[in-house]
Amino acid sequence: MTADDLWDQVDEYYTQRLLDDDETLAAALRANADAGLPPIDVTPAQGKLLHLLARSVGARRVLEVGTLGGYSTVWLARAVPADGEVVTCEVSPRHAEVARANLDGAGVGDRVRIVLGPALETLPSVEGPFDMVFVDADKASNTEYLEHAIRLARPGALVVVDNVVREGRVVDPDDPDPAVVGTRRFADALAADPRISATVVQTVGAKGYDGFVLGVLES
Ligand code: SAH
Ligand code: DHB
Ligand code: MG
Repeated sequence: MTADDLWDQVDEYYTQRLLDDDETLAAALRANADAGLPPIDVTPAQGKLLHLLARSVGARRVLEVGTLGGYSTVWLARAVPADGEVVTCEVSPRHAEVARANLDGAGVGDRVRIVLGPALETLPSVEGPFDMVFVDADKASNTEYLEHAIRLARPGALVVVDNVVREGRVVDPDDPDPAVVGTRRFADALAADPRISATVVQTVGAKGYDGFVLGVLES
């Protein structure tokens, strides 16, 4: 058995035990596949992690950058109160359309605002404060998304950034992939920024070897 197969099995083992069977989320993933969206949503276990983190910080307003079909958005929207809000930024009208249907189908549509357009252009007009920010879009812009997150989130807010490891490629200074270059630039900016205290969680599982940065904004 390869390490990858074992990671899958362990993900499956805990997902079966710790996550409820969820027809709504399964339907969202089917709708994404039917619409031809790339299968790059967070895993179920990671979606529940985002959900639990949002609940842990008592999040009422969450900002997401990178909606895709709204799979992670459903997990986050379920964590905020009925009068709370998830604002999620997406550049692709097609992705946003699929996400809108999934969010309405999940019964959380009234809590989610999808902001359509390139996030670097739309974020300047988004209004805070947010209790949590989840960054999961084009990795080349993560440094700029961090700047917006710090501007828009309240002191003590939680900032989560996906895909900061990418099979370990982050440690290769010669990798020309804009996602890797962008992640390394983001890591340096994060390291130098006194307004946020952060750490990394490397992950394995159904989506391979990757990781999240978790940070808390200083007061
Ligand atoms: N958070 C989602 C996955 C997001 S995939 C989930 O876990 O379910 C990344 C998304 O970011 C894609 O839908 C892509 O279209 C979007 N994206 C890429 N560049 C963007 C940009 N400049 N502005 C906003 N969204 C962008
Ligand atoms: C990609 C993007 C993601 O956000 C992710 O979680 C996995 C893969 C990608 O662009 O390949
Ligand atoms: Mg991601």
